[in-house]
Amino acid sequence: MGSVLVLYDSKTGNTAKMAGYVAQGAGEIPETQVRLLSVDEASADDIFWCDGMAVGSPTYVGVLSWKMKRFWDEVVPKVWGKTDGKIACAFSSSGGWGGGAELTCLSLHIMLMNFGFLVFGIPDYTGEAFTLHYGAVVAREPRREEEIAACRRLGKRLAQWVAVYVDGRREHRPGPIKQR
Ligand SMILES: Cc1cc2nc3c(=O)[nH]c(=O)nc-3n(C[C@H](O)[C@H](O)[C@H](O)COP(=O)(O)O)c2cc1C
Repeated sequence: MGSVLVLYDSKTGNTAKMAGYVAQGAGEIPETQVRLLSVDEASADDIFWCDGMAVGSPTYVGVLSWKMKRFWDEVVPKVWGKTDGKIACAFSSSGGWGGGAELTCLSLHIMLMNFGFLVFGIPDYTGEAFTLHYGAVVAREPRREEEIAACRRLGKRLAQWVAVYVDGRREHRPGPIKQR
């Protein structure tokens, strides 16, 4: 059934913690296979393997980290033209709120769109005045309940879209199901 890759870069462990929660969320959808890999471990084969990918990076000067960019620059050109239609989303840990985590998600989206990934956001709130419209964002490590829930929600939603659009399992569609 659906395969989800959670790919992340993390120097001091914060984005890695987010990635762990994202992977947990993806695992909530039955029959979803989940791989959790850092950019140091992942290869082009992992990109081929997955139907959907959550990509996480620390916020570095308002955008994705150099290591994540290098991964896509150097490793993934092997898959150029072969990733169209895979589903993707983003997450980021920054040093502080307003430090550019959402911009980092957008920079990841731009990169993924370049490879033909179908990128999505999430309108839900996971706590009071706390949302993940452009991906899950956290200042430093995810600690509060709503921050952890946002990471899990992102992974779960990714696995749901994979179940619906890749495997045709319409019962996993979030929100109202269109009657035919
Ligand atoms: C080179 C560099 C640039 C950074 N730029 C920003 C930034 O623009 N905005 C911000 O809020 N935090 C910035 N930070 C802080 C990191 O985003 C933050 O510490 C993050 O939690 C690190 O994630 P990690 O533990 O997964 O490595 C920067 C850190 C480094 C090392």
